[in-house]
Amino acid sequence: MPAPAMTETETLPILFVPDKRLRLKARPLGDADGDVIRALAPKMLATMYAAPGIGLAAPQIGEGLRLVVLDIQPKEKPDPMVLVNPEIIIESTELAVREEGCLSLPGQYADVTRPARVKVRYLDLTGAKREIEGEGLLSACLQHEIDHLDGVLFVDHLSALKRNMILRKLAKDLKSQQRG
Ligand code: NI
Repeated sequence: MPAPAMTETETLPILFVPDKRLRLKARPLGDADGDVIRALAPKMLATMYAAPGIGLAAPQIGEGLRLVVLDIQPKEKPDPMVLVNPEIIIESTELAVREEGCLSLPGQYADVTRPARVKVRYLDLTGAKREIEGEGLLSACLQHEIDHLDGVLFVDHLSALKRNMILRKLAKDLKSQQRG
């Protein structure tokens, strides 16, 4: 029996810092946006997996929409999540430090301090209201991706000195990549 044809989902180009679109506040999705979400979510997931990454927000592919995809599970057992209009409704006073990177700042990493636990409210792909509580990697990932929807990057949580070091290094790395 012939194997079923694999249909590859299209991936999208990821914007890098200092693209200004990464700094805009994204707009909430409404009832009229169902088709947009259903078209965009699979492409965003494919883009995230191909990168590879564990989270991607719509502004990173140039869409100013409050849409996030993430999957923090190991590759062997994928658990893709799509979050429409996610918002943090509770955050712990306890803080946690975790090393973060970002597909929009390729190759750059730094320790970021954030609330250790968060509860996030969002709509799923069917438009149903959902809540998710996270700690550890999931907590950091949720906060990092929701930050993107407000034009905030992980380097904004660092000291100006550290941020500028990373941004300079990124600019240098991207330039040398362009030269090949
Ligand atoms: Ni990011």
